[in-house]
Amino acid sequence: MYNLLKGKKGIIFGALDSNSIAWKTAERVHEEGGEFVLTNAPVAMRMGQINELAEKTGAQVIPADATNLEDLQNLVDKSMEILGGKIDFVLHSIGMSINVRKGNHYTNQNYDFTQKGTDVSAMSFHKVMQTLYKSDAMNEWGSIVALSYMAAQRVFPDYNDMADNKAYLESIARSFGYFFGKDKNVRVNTISQSPTPTTAGSGVKGFDGFISYADKMSPLGNATALDCANYTVSLFSDLTKRVTLQNLYNDGGFSNMGVSTAVMSAFVENEQE
Ligand SMILES: NC(=O)c1ccc[n+]([C@@H]2O[C@H](COP(=O)([O-])OP(=O)(O)OC[C@H]3O[C@@H](n4cnc5c(N)ncnc54)[C@H](O)[C@@H]3O)[C@@H](O)[C@H]2O)c1
Repeated sequence: MYNLLKGKKGIIFGALDSNSIAWKTAERVHEEGGEFVLTNAPVAMRMGQINELAEKTGAQVIPADATNLEDLQNLVDKSMEILGGKIDFVLHSIGMSINVRKGNHYTNQNYDFTQKGTDVSAMSFHKVMQTLYKSDAMNEWGSIVALSYMAAQRVFPDYNDMADNKAYLESIARSFGYFFGKDKNVRVNTISQSPTPTTAGSGVKGFDGFISYADKMSPLGNATALDCANYTVSLFSDLTKRVTLQNLYNDGGFSNMGVSTAVMSAFVENEQE
């Protein structure tokens, strides 16, 4: 360990269980000397094992629905009280589509579900940042990261309305990142992560095929949740002070591939003959 986050204080959204990317991130941030408050939706408190993680990392848990401004204000105020000052890092690791959950095809959405999914998966990022910004809760040279997926740029039919939510999320990172940078010297980025076996990830139709395809296409193979945690640690550290407004691929090279020999071999019959 490198003590990269010694003395830094933050808020980590979205640790549901030990597969969650936020869970791995909390463990790594703790190992690097960072202190934080853990938060998740009140309903996830009942389903998840967040208290176990809190105990392990010496964190306190404050429930907050990331779509609810009162919850977010309470979270920010209490976090500053608990941590004894302003915030250095925030991880937004939140995603949910009711259309995906209910098996509604992209061409047959229930728009109430679509709106709810957009609020949870994308607009919540704006709400989190607006709450932090208005409360002047971020320390200078702080860092805010949200997690995205490449369906924001390219078509993955079964990713459904989450593709649109991720495009919106990445745009918010740039737009808010401008003001956070100019006014408070805070950086804002998204990490575009490989498919990862978590509760949210596995909800996508055909996920098993999806994950093996990505793995076979990527020269370095799929990035794991731990890889994502490590990348996030680097973005929270002082080693990346002027990286901002970026969507950063943590995907083993997938995003720049056309085709790989491993994938081609599935289409070339009897090549040896
Ligand atoms: N798993 C993948 O394949 C993959 C790939 C790229 C990006 N991502 C992104 O990573 C992030 C984390 O997802 P994960 O894969 O670790 O899955 P996960 O299911 O462990 O985490 C999703 C989290 O969102 C939380 N959440 C849902 N509604 C909320 C609300 N209203 N308020 C607060 N929190 C709420 C859930 O409780 C859960 O903790 C998501 O943004 C996801 O889209 C995942």
